[in-house]
Amino acid sequence: MSSRYPAAWLDELRSRSDIVQIVSGYVALNKKGRKYWGLCPFHGEKTPSFSVDGEHQLYYCFGCKAGGNVFHFFMEMEHCTFNEAVEQLAERAHMTLPELEKDEDYERRRTQRERLLNANKEAARFYHETLFTPAGAASLAYLRKRGLSDGIIRKFGLGASPDDWCTLSDRLMEKGFTLDELVLAGLTVRKKAENGKERYFDMFRSRAMFPIIDAYGNVLAFGGRTLEKREPKYLNTADTPVFNKRKGVFAANLLRQQRHLDRVILVEGYMDVVSLTQFGVEGVCATLGTALTAEQARLLKRYAPQVYLGYDGDSAGQHAILRGLEILEQENVPARVLDFPDGLDPDEFIRRDGAEGFRKLPAISPAAYRLRRLKDGFDLSAQDSRLAYARSASEIVSAVDPLERDVLLGQLSVETGFSRETLLEQMNLSAQKASSRPKDQPARPRTPRAPVSAQPQGDDLRAQELLLSLFASGQIPKDMIEEKDFDDDELKSLYRELAAGASPASLPDLAPDETSRSRYTRLLLTPTAGSTDEMIAMANDCLIRIRKTSLEKRYEELSQEISSASGEQLSALLQEAREISDKLKKLK
Ligand code: UTP
Ligand code: MN
Repeated sequence: MSSRYPAAWLDELRSRSDIVQIVSGYVALNKKGRKYWGLCPFHGEKTPSFSVDGEHQLYYCFGCKAGGNVFHFFMEMEHCTFNEAVEQLAERAHMTLPELEKDEDYERRRTQRERLLNANKEAARFYHETLFTPAGAASLAYLRKRGLSDGIIRKFGLGASPDDWCTLSDRLMEKGFTLDELVLAGLTVRKKAENGKERYFDMFRSRAMFPIIDAYGNVLAFGGRTLEKREPKYLNTADTPVFNKRKGVFAANLLRQQRHLDRVILVEGYMDVVSLTQFGVEGVCATLGTALTAEQARLLKRYAPQVYLGYDGDSAGQHAILRGLEILEQENVPARVLDFPDGLDPDEFIRRDGAEGFRKLPAISPAAYRLRRLKDGFDLSAQDSRLAYARSASEIVSAVDPLERDVLLGQLSVETGFSRETLLEQMNLSAQKASSRPKDQPARPRTPRAPVSAQPQGDDLRAQELLLSLFASGQIPKDMIEEKDFDDDELKSLYRELAAGASPASLPDLAPDETSRSRYTRLLLTPTAGSTDEMIAMANDCLIRIRKTSLEKRYEELSQEISSASGEQLSALLQEAREISDKLKKLK
């Protein structure tokens, strides 16, 4: 990964962006030994294998092998490019980008973003304050009628937009925001009146206001619910320079505060989130009036190892679940479904059946859910229909693991009257059909691997890798090691960089791809060995092993050459062989 920024400047930025602090913004970390540990945000897990090395400023997951420095962590979490990660971290560290120092456009965009976020924050404050004044009385009454407590209203910062034209716009302009900025933020609408004059008015009027706040506490946008039966029921901020509805979720700010969630519950509506939260359900969020996107699926992966889809029990919700499951599967996010009965949405359900009823609601597997939906489309009392159902169902069931398959088979057998054996046979047919289909990604041919014992290289490579780790710790005398002690290209180049003074944290930037980056990081982590003396002793052991192997290799070559040499050449070879033999003796 090459970057257009000077190495020294990147070093400075890296050292000002402490990786422990940045990672802590996403992952709860505990210090154990020399490293910090937490649940890996890149793959689902229940016991922490994700480590952060504060000394060398690297992260590495021993489970999924994700690794790198603070830039790579940010890139992965925010799904951005290397340069975007650099730019955003620079902004947080208040460092000016070197190339862009004179780039007025960049400065303008950066300050514009800050100003729009400020305008939104002021607006949220205004709406929230208004809720408890006469101008907000109707909204407050509405929210209370929906069963919301004052506590939950405050927790979500809910508010009221007053029933007049431009109170908010005027208030914000008094505070120094320009009309252009307010329009850009989606808070104000500008219209040409019939007489040709321009007029402006508040986007949200006479609505109960739901601020959309990101994980860092930035107010990005608003949803406003009508208090009467006006259309639209919810008015949402359109996309703005600070808001993209495909990328965020409602209540991301709360998700981030709830550590160690074992699942995130994704629902459709603002009210569902607020209501479930009031009933004590943790980890609830909502997409913002759109179908689930891949970006959102990846975002949710950060907060919990699995996602429960808790969409409305109506047919639109059920359809959205099937699509949502596909997205989650594509993004490798384990999913389950909360299937709300009687066409209820989560808010209606929890108000009817309470927290207890909600807790008892089974979280069903994607395959079980698909079967349930499939079954709705068939009349199982008719023979043809039963057959068609069994056929389609077999396809669904053939894709699951053997344990779940066993459960679903039993269920299917009862429903259709076919024996488990018959269904299994049908399933094998479906599976064959599926595997003979051309896939977008052909399975990689397996490369046969030689057994470890036949690879003397294995142990030597490990010794070289350990040597490099020890060298990266900075505790080993520089002159102890030479470049030729490494015969692996990547190790050689890492050694060269370290010897030239590069910091371990800077080296993952040089990795050509993710596999190398993972390897670089693993090698560059602070060694677990204790004192300097212990490290030197270990390095010495590695060196003896490495040098011995290389001398032995040369000795073998020599004996080949000697057998066919004569004259002066022979005596030179013999001389070299004697020297090697002496060196080998000394090493032993
Ligand atoms: P619903 O119509 O299911 O509303 O829309 P709801 O959440 O149950 O709302 P209440 O209980 O009637 O107050 C689900 C979600 O779809 C988006 C909103 O995010 C809403 O919460 N939506 C719906 C809109 O953005 N605009 C609309 O006009 C309607
Ligand atoms: Mn509802």
